[in-house]
Amino acid sequence: GLPERVTIWEVGPRDGLQNEQAVVPVEVKLEFLDRLAAAGLGVLEATSFVHPKWVPQLADAEELLGRLDRRPGVRYPVLVPNERGLDRALAAGVRHIAVFGSATETFAQRNLNSTVDGQFAMFEPVVGRARAEGLEVRAYLSMCFGDPWEGPVPAEQVVRVGRRLLDLGCSQLSLGDTVGVATAGQVERLLDLFTGAGVGVDALAVHFHDTYGQALANTHAALRKGVSTVDSSAGGLGGCPYAESATGNLATEDLVWLLDGLGIEHGADLGELVAASRWMAERLGRPSPSRVVRALGG
Ligand code: HMG
Ligand code: MG
Repeated sequence: GLPERVTIWEVGPRDGLQNEQAVVPVEVKLEFLDRLAAAGLGVLEATSFVHPKWVPQLADAEELLGRLDRRPGVRYPVLVPNERGLDRALAAGVRHIAVFGSATETFAQRNLNSTVDGQFAMFEPVVGRARAEGLEVRAYLSMCFGDPWEGPVPAEQVVRVGRRLLDLGCSQLSLGDTVGVATAGQVERLLDLFTGAGVGVDALAVHFHDTYGQALANTHAALRKGVSTVDSSAGGLGGCPYAESATGNLATEDLVWLLDGLGIEHGADLGELVAASRWMAERLGRPSPSRVVRALGG
């Protein structure tokens, strides 16, 4: 059944801004993070320690974290693909990281210049060292429902790769619909397959992109299966530069509207979130795609 409380895993500053054509100034990123923290969000995925040529939008990760005014009680996870990224993250004082794998060969190649097996060789020393340093490690799994190059992705394949990520020592697995093609029935079936394979819903999170307008329906399906961590991005910012046709994530405001209606606790202030997303939309020069932001005057 539905969880009593949901952790909103805010990915706008990372998943959102990594996909902007223009590089957003570090001052704007810092103010965005601060506004999101002030709006009551407890997890703010701040940036990535990836190769700066691959994602120039986040090449300022060191400067950003060096200047970040960390609020007590707020976690600021970052993406880390390899040991070079972990070295950089540790030097920046990071306490929470996420590795990001692919369920398909094509995306492992395009996103990590690797293979499904090769990504595990990349992540194993990262997770091992990070845990030895006392860091919390999340794992993302991309292309859990469909892949723009390979088509539908078999759920058994997703469970196999996802379990390997958890077996590395990651505390949570976020199931990514990278290009936003999933539908609610598929979400239910995948979650059932994971729980049938012995992975509890407490170890799972969902990460929906809204390309086909299904993100909220998919989230509701996951909530009904008991998932209690949901990834979203303020104002619906987002996409993935290495996945054709990916659009923004589920908007945090749309998620909050749903959770409020269901009576599920989340700790965020909708008015302040909308204000933060409107502010960011002005900086980016275009309106937020979030329906709730627009309905409330964005
Ligand atoms: P590569 O070119 O194979 O790297 O890229 P390499 O290991 O061969 O190293 C080449 C050079 O890069 C070396 O420098 C390394 O030191 C340097 P040289 O010796 O030639 O001077 N290097 C680095 N420099 C800085 N930071 C690093 C780093 N690593 C190597 N971390 C690599 C492999 C993994 C680095 C590359 O493919 C990469 O950076 N990929 C990241 C792509 C990315 O960020 N994608 C978006 C995030 S995933 C996503 O959005 C999906 C998600 O939202 C969930 C969903 O929606 O499904 C999470
Ligand atoms: Mg994503």
